[in-house]
Amino acid sequence: MPDSTAAQQRLDAWRERIDRVLGSVLPSPNHPPQRLHAAMRHAVLLGGKRIRPLLVYATGAAFRTDDETLDAPAAAVELMQAYSLVHDDLPAMDDDALRRGHPTVHVAFDEATAILAGDALQSLAFETLTSAHVEAGARVAMLRELSIAVGTRGMCGGQALDIDATGVSGGMDLAALEQLHARKTGALLRASVRLGAIAANADAGQRRHLDAFADALGLAFQIRDDLLDVEGDSATLGKTAGKDAAQAKATFPALIGIEASRQRLQALAATMQASLQPFGVRADALQALARRVVERDH
Ligand code: IPE
Ligand code: IPE
Ligand code: MG
Ligand code: MG
Ligand code: MG
Repeated sequence: MPDSTAAQQRLDAWRERIDRVLGSVLPSPNHPPQRLHAAMRHAVLLGGKRIRPLLVYATGAAFRTDDETLDAPAAAVELMQAYSLVHDDLPAMDDDALRRGHPTVHVAFDEATAILAGDALQSLAFETLTSAHVEAGARVAMLRELSIAVGTRGMCGGQALDIDATGVSGGMDLAALEQLHARKTGALLRASVRLGAIAANADAGQRRHLDAFADALGLAFQIRDDLLDVEGDSATLGKTAGKDAAQAKATFPALIGIEASRQRLQALAATMQASLQPFGVRADALQALARRVVERDH
């Protein structure tokens, strides 16, 4: 049985790979408009854990899909992630000055450039996906999956619910908070798994197990994010700690407390592990990634 260290090393190798791919799909900072291109590269290339592309590679690898086939969907989900962070940090949204250990794009550049960089990254994500080395039907399925995940049914809808709930004391029950998290954060993580599954030609039964895995991972991911905002420090996180309480955000620790949030996280870890059982050792990279999400300190 492959040990988990080997699986973690595979994740690290994919991480280096995706950085090369991203560097090559981003527009050159030497071509006009230089400032916009520099801002896009700042948003994407300076740090980031690359969890979403790793999900694409690790899911595809469970079906022995080669890395070349997975490069385009992996790049697309990370470009989408970077766009969502640039806009999440804007003064009109979370108003954050630090991201991935660096000044946010609107601080390092300016607000108009940050808005345009986010817009252009989103567009580049779709463009990149159109070049995926899969048959045309699979390409359309991937484009549809990603579109839905970042639209009103997914990330943007979740961000709107987040804004509605901000500063409203005692306004939300647990089911509503789970819905918010599922859309804000869960949708893009699930799309990452689904893109890998589409590229790998997974069958309907396999996709159901992967969806169950991804739904647990999505919620676990945001609970960990909420806990780190309370318990982490800005230097380790690479983003400002303590912002959620300061802005009265709807979060798991705020609603059910730290201890209950930790317990929920452990329960989700068990769900993730169980959903991957049918794949056996082929899912070792996904198992390793699940552990990384639950145990991460930034
Ligand atoms: C942060 O996502 C935003 C959330 C969805 C909670 P990550 O923690 O994956 O951030 P990066 O991409 O590694 O910077
Ligand atoms: C943002 O959630 C999720 C996105 C869609 C970008 P948060 O606002 O909690 O993310 P952080 O804590 O700023 O990374
Ligand atoms: Mg936010
Ligand atoms: Mg934020
Ligand atoms: Mg957060």
